[in-house]
Amino acid sequence: MSTSVSIPENIKKILVTGGCGFIGGAVIRKLLKSTDAEIFNIDKVGKVSDLTSLDKVIKKLGQSKESKYYFIQLDLADETLTEKVIFDIEPDLIIHLAAESHVDRSIDGPDLFIKSNIIGTFNLLQSALKYWQKLPSNKKESFRFHHVSTDEVFGSLGAIGQFSESTPYDPRSPYSASKAASDHLVNAWHHTYGLPIVITNCSNNYGPWQFPEKLIPLAIYKAFNNKKIPLYGKGLNVRDWLYVEDHVEAILLTAINGRIGESYCIGGNAEKTNKEVLESICNIMDRKLKKEDTLKNLITLVEDRPGHDQRYSINFSRINEELGWKPKHSFEEGLELTVNWYIENIYWCEEMMRKSNYNAERVGLRNYK
Ligand SMILES: NC(=O)c1ccc[n+]([C@@H]2O[C@H](COP(=O)([O-])OP(=O)(O)OC[C@H]3O[C@@H](n4cnc5c(N)ncnc54)[C@H](O)[C@@H]3O)[C@@H](O)[C@H]2O)c1
Repeated sequence: MSTSVSIPENIKKILVTGGCGFIGGAVIRKLLKSTDAEIFNIDKVGKVSDLTSLDKVIKKLGQSKESKYYFIQLDLADETLTEKVIFDIEPDLIIHLAAESHVDRSIDGPDLFIKSNIIGTFNLLQSALKYWQKLPSNKKESFRFHHVSTDEVFGSLGAIGQFSESTPYDPRSPYSASKAASDHLVNAWHHTYGLPIVITNCSNNYGPWQFPEKLIPLAIYKAFNNKKIPLYGKGLNVRDWLYVEDHVEAILLTAINGRIGESYCIGGNAEKTNKEVLESICNIMDRKLKKEDTLKNLITLVEDRPGHDQRYSINFSRINEELGWKPKHSFEEGLELTVNWYIENIYWCEEMMRKSNYNAERVGLRNYK
């Protein structure tokens, strides 16, 4: 069984935070196609943010959608403005994705992660709570605050075992610690003040429009340009990969139909070592670009990430049994779609890198600034 989401008619205004990012953008694109609700996107517009792709897609969808989409540039670290904007929007549903999201950057500069992921979530919760408490009872009843989090809050697995909703938190990087803190705040606002929340903890995502500093888009970009493809340590760290559109389905399904106060683990059933991921990318690109010498020759071992978690794996039976969700894309299908997209949109990578002054250099070796 695999389910698609339908947004109930009483949800007329949906606020997405972090909609200029990789997953938030995919959430907004899906919402615009599946509901007539008004969509509000709050994003501070950071290094990895992209407005152009969303604007283009919205324009393509036509006038009726353009007039239902609103972008508000706002840093959630600004408490006063956050509250004002929530009261102005009057959302029926909040989907909170805004966060600093790159582990390597959290090693070089954790400050921003504390500010965005912890203080930002705290400000959003406070504003949402004040707003929710003033709603009439029918709206109060149906309101939801959905917090999008990561499996990295659970720490690192050995060769066996899986993360599930009952796994104790054990974050190891500044990024995962800041996300764990935000999950605890969200839970506390539910238990203490009754705010109707749902949390999802998802494994590594991949797909189009991911800023080319994360493993998969960086490898495609480097391979395309015949540059060395860095592989951390021995390349044996394992991640459970999920195609972004499958994550979006899971987010919407749990935001609408998930049990209030619960968390749901989401995974791809696709455990791969980083080495296997890079080799698969090279195999696809060898075939597509008709390479005589395999691009695998470009894969180069480099110094490991400090505190690199060994293995993540997700048991997603709760969301599967309660809501019928499972990934629709196998890793092979999702990766093929992703590689195709990046090859066709390599200019997008170049433009994003130029804009953010990033040259695909190594980050995250404890150069604390
Ligand atoms: N990428 C993954 O593999 C993955 C997996 C599981 C969970 N998540 C979670 O999903 C969410 C989205 O991840 P992503 O990969 O799309 O990240 P991303 O880095 O691509 O995008 C995040 C967006 O949030 C915005 N943002 C950050 N701090 C903000 C603030 N203080 N105020 C307003 N906007 C702010 C950024 O400008 C950016 O546009 C994050 O919460 C992340 O922890 C990501």
